[in-house]
Amino acid sequence: MARILAGCAEAHANIALIKYWGNRDHRLNLPANGSISFNLDALLTRTLVVFDPKLTEDRLVINGQERRREEHRRMQRILAWVREKAGVYHYAHVISATNIPMAVGLASSAAAFAALALAATKALGLHLDERDLSRLARRGSGSAARSVPEGFVEWRVGTRDEDCYAFTLFPADYWELWDCIALVSTRPKPISSMEGHRLAETSPIQWARVADTPRRLEVCRNALRNRDFNALADIVEQDAHLLHAVMQTSTPPLFYWEPVTVEIMHTVRQWRKEKGWNVCYTLDAGPNVHVICTGDMVARVQEALEAIPGVQQVLVSRVGKGARVLPTHLCMDLAQQGRIPTHWL
Ligand code: PMV
Repeated sequence: MARILAGCAEAHANIALIKYWGNRDHRLNLPANGSISFNLDALLTRTLVVFDPKLTEDRLVINGQERRREEHRRMQRILAWVREKAGVYHYAHVISATNIPMAVGLASSAAAFAALALAATKALGLHLDERDLSRLARRGSGSAARSVPEGFVEWRVGTRDEDCYAFTLFPADYWELWDCIALVSTRPKPISSMEGHRLAETSPIQWARVADTPRRLEVCRNALRNRDFNALADIVEQDAHLLHAVMQTSTPPLFYWEPVTVEIMHTVRQWRKEKGWNVCYTLDAGPNVHVICTGDMVARVQEALEAIPGVQQVLVSRVGKGARVLPTHLCMDLAQQGRIPTHWL
């Protein structure tokens, strides 16, 4: 029997402090602007990739269910690249398990494509360094480039494929920040972020947001370096407002906010201004609010968010590590979910 080639890896979601929105190259996901994020330790995806000479097409199983949609097409971009590089042309079983609610604007795709890039390259014996792995993950979903390195991460805008990758600005334990994610809706997004990136350039203010990004990146880097929460809060909220201003002025407009989204935004600013709490908010392509706070605040922020009517659940996460390879014996449960014989691992 021909050799079965398997690799397994895990990666975390990330939350952007300075957002990526719009591409200069949609095929390679070369972004319109640089971005900064931190990984979310509590939001995790684990993926097993098995290249199998007997398969007649690629399979994708997420949380025990076979998938045949958008994710499947984007997965092909990564698998095609890996097969070409390794000169191995078998189809693959891709079996993934995640605790991240999908398609609700929680960047489930970032963790998914970072884990996939690492597991697939490992399966075929390719040893990519962190930079090249980040570039590969980027092809699946731009923000996945940022889930490869650990901790607080910057994704360089770059000039071409080769210099467009993410790297660690500060390790995960540099500053004890937390993300308290107020879930106000788990309805799937009507428009994927992939389509959203294409709409960005239809907004008459996208160019101004992009032109100002080097300044916001610099302010954010300095705020992180100095662990200066007030400086961080101002730039993070301004950046989120700019992102949503672009979304709301695209054609067609993307309007993600619910009434409770706006209420949380006001309330968080009040907590900061009136109570002196170290809290600020940011929002991705969805109505859920990411409330960033320092470690000493987490319990009270979580409790206070849960008390707001319309908040369904609050997920909390500290800053996380980067993507990592797992020994295949730790991925037996994934093999079972994908109905793959465990003796293959
Ligand atoms: O990587 P994508 O295509 O899911 O885009 C992510 C876009 C935002 O979450 C809105 C911003 C960001 O930088 O994560």
